[in-house]
Amino acid sequence: KAAPNGCPISARAAAFDPFDDAYQQDPPDYVRWSRDDEPVFFSPRLGYWVVTRYQDIKAIFRDNITFSPSIALEKITPTGPEANAVLASYGYAMNRTLVNEDEPAHMARRRVLMAPFTPEALKEHEPMVRELARAYVDRFIDDGRADLVDQMLWEVPLTVALHFLGVPEEDMQMLRQYSIAHTINTWGRPKPEEQVRVAHAVGNFWQLAGRILDKMRQDPSGPGWMKFGIRMQAECPDVITDSYLHSMMMAVIVAAHETTANATANALKLLLQRPQAWRAVCDDPGLIPNAVEECLRHNGSVPAWRRIATRDVTVGGVDVPAGGKLLIVMASANHDPRHFDDPDRVDLLRENASDHLTFGYGAHQCMGKNLARMEMQVFLEELSRRLPHMRLREQAFSYVPNTSFRGPEHLWVEWDPSRNPEGTDP
Ligand code: HEM
Repeated sequence: KAAPNGCPISARAAAFDPFDDAYQQDPPDYVRWSRDDEPVFFSPRLGYWVVTRYQDIKAIFRDNITFSPSIALEKITPTGPEANAVLASYGYAMNRTLVNEDEPAHMARRRVLMAPFTPEALKEHEPMVRELARAYVDRFIDDGRADLVDQMLWEVPLTVALHFLGVPEEDMQMLRQYSIAHTINTWGRPKPEEQVRVAHAVGNFWQLAGRILDKMRQDPSGPGWMKFGIRMQAECPDVITDSYLHSMMMAVIVAAHETTANATANALKLLLQRPQAWRAVCDDPGLIPNAVEECLRHNGSVPAWRRIATRDVTVGGVDVPAGGKLLIVMASANHDPRHFDDPDRVDLLRENASDHLTFGYGAHQCMGKNLARMEMQVFLEELSRRLPHMRLREQAFSYVPNTSFRGPEHLWVEWDPSRNPEGTDP
């Protein structure tokens, strides 16, 4: 079988399957062959062109007119009529947010909504993040073991995200189920019997987002990015539409917390698997800001993102026809030796660590990147100060099978509580 441009499909391209556990476990290793030999290939299983080298991916991010982000939140696996009917029964109408909006609408909206992301505005959130991180560590510090994902890394970023958005704290466990359903619905390959269950959860999430929005509209005063958005709607209703607010309310709850929870779990796993690196962080917290960048580079939480070609175009020497969908694997770009020396090594002092593409690049680059960085730094500071003697337990790591949201579902660590440098934090 040939690719849409008429070129033959190699055996490795034909076998590429991002829902396979091998991709989840180590995305850059899974596509090492492509980075080396076939940096742009057509995946017949996915129906996407897959791009794996740093320069090609950066060039795609840089040109959001030729490479439109409009498919960023489209279901990567089309669902069957039964699941579609379930979604329709909830009035599900996820549409344009920011991440999947084309120009000129995108930039107009992004500008109007930028103020709460300035460094000064973000500074206000740090004390809360630290307080929460300390309180959660207090809960398990005397136990000698913890699943950091279940006992800290899921809930704290979710609380911070809701606070940042101005959303009252909702049932955390329910939101966790909804978020996972949204991830599977958008970036996964649910089996037909799973599709209906996922559709109900996504439908409920959509309706919950609508209720939260209605409540906020009654009194949009006070802090919070979504409240800010509602206030801005009064000034520029053509830019901040009702559809935008509803779609964003659902999408951003996931974008603002799951990404950060996963990134922190990935970072801790990476460091604890290299006791020397973990020791270095514990001995010198000044290393933490660059360590966060290096972890985001080496083991980030958004391994791949999507674009669609709006015209015939050549990518890395391969002709991609107009309408061609692209899966751009940032996790692979981040391990490209053409840009990063000895890319598989964890180097806490790496000078260009922050060149990673985990937050995307260009017009759509993640607006929340500095909030995420701050959270990750606080988590590493608190855990390295209070549990420098923790180590990973023997365990198999599992991931929700999908292309774009990646972090271990559990992260078990253990330590000797009699050696705690301090007990419960004062
Ligand atoms: C966009 C990753 C945390 C809000 C994006 C994009 C990526 C990404 C890959 C698309 C970039 C592109 O198309 O060029 C991440 C990662 C995070 C994180 C890895 C954590 C480690 C957050 C947080 C927030 C947030 C905490 C917010 C509160 C957004 C928004 C956009 C975005 C609003 C859309 C920007 C636009 O299209 O103009 N993020 N994100 N993200 N992210 Fe994040």
